[in-house]
Amino acid sequence: MSIERKGFGSAGGGEETRLFTLKAGPFSAGFSDFGATLVAFEAPAAGGGRDDLVLGFSRAADYEGSDAYLGATVGRFANRIARGAFSLDGKDFRLATNNGPNHLHGGKRGFDKRIWKTEGYEEGGAAALRFELFSPDGEEGYPGDLSVVATYRLDPAGILDLAFEAECGAPTILSLTQHAYWNLRGHDRGGILDHELRLAASRYLPVDETLIPTGELAPVAGGPFDFRTAKRVGRDLAAVGGYDHCFVLDREGGLAGSGAGEAAPALVDFAELRDPESGRRMRVATSLPGVQLYTGNFLSGFLGKGGARYHKHAGLCLETELFPDAPNRPDFPQATLRPGQVWRHATRYSFFV
Ligand code: GAL
Repeated sequence: MSIERKGFGSAGGGEETRLFTLKAGPFSAGFSDFGATLVAFEAPAAGGGRDDLVLGFSRAADYEGSDAYLGATVGRFANRIARGAFSLDGKDFRLATNNGPNHLHGGKRGFDKRIWKTEGYEEGGAAALRFELFSPDGEEGYPGDLSVVATYRLDPAGILDLAFEAECGAPTILSLTQHAYWNLRGHDRGGILDHELRLAASRYLPVDETLIPTGELAPVAGGPFDFRTAKRVGRDLAAVGGYDHCFVLDREGGLAGSGAGEAAPALVDFAELRDPESGRRMRVATSLPGVQLYTGNFLSGFLGKGGARYHKHAGLCLETELFPDAPNRPDFPQATLRPGQVWRHATRYSFFV
């Protein structure tokens, strides 16, 4: 295993960024300190050679100019908060609104646009990166200082582990996610509609026209949201106009909690994605209660790394998260973090080639 470092161009007002490439066995994962972003993930191909399975750009400035969140570590709050408003302990807060009337993925300059302090290390047979970020009280409207550590670890068996830990200086809200767009055939090999997906989720969150959950936890049974038995992603996609929904992950003992101040909930194996052409499979497990299945509906045909064009459905995101708009929904698992608590969650991606 090894860790390579090189420049990734300037961003963030002239600051230099870096690209770190973790190598473990036949796998490699490239991350930038700009956004703690997964820029590339290479896996072997059955017939020899390798493919890069995530959409990305080749320099930090392109990430800075994009609102697609390709591969980003997203915070403080993944997905939307209605009208950017919520109250906590009787106080009202206004967040930046950057998606129509709503707050999305941390606001105008979320964690995906910040340069994280990054340290690479080797551990057992694995190569790892520890990303650290400090977010001051008031940033994008959020209360309380916040310190976040995101650790990504790649082992030679094809397991990519992500672990989050965060602490705050005053009560706040938090829901961190990883926003990679996967295409198990290769990022430049067409779309994901033929991929097969299994999701262990019996319920999902219907949304309004601005993509805010209505509050209902609706059963998936028999409808287009039913992925409990593997099916082609494209099979029922037209019926929903493209997936962009949070699924409630089935878990023994009910929903996972906020992750604040508790031992991290156990990982639940909730997804398997398979590309029939390459035969590659990815399994995902998480401690979080939900996953946003997003089928790249807003990808507009822009130019990515290596001259690839990313059209609608070029990649698919499985964003493990607390539920969107949770701060305004007392009946959802709560997103509150208080001083003295540690917010702990983990997600594991396993690859089979
Ligand atoms: C997803 C979100 C989509 C869209 C996308 C970024 O996580 O669910 O609605 O905002 O990010 O383009």
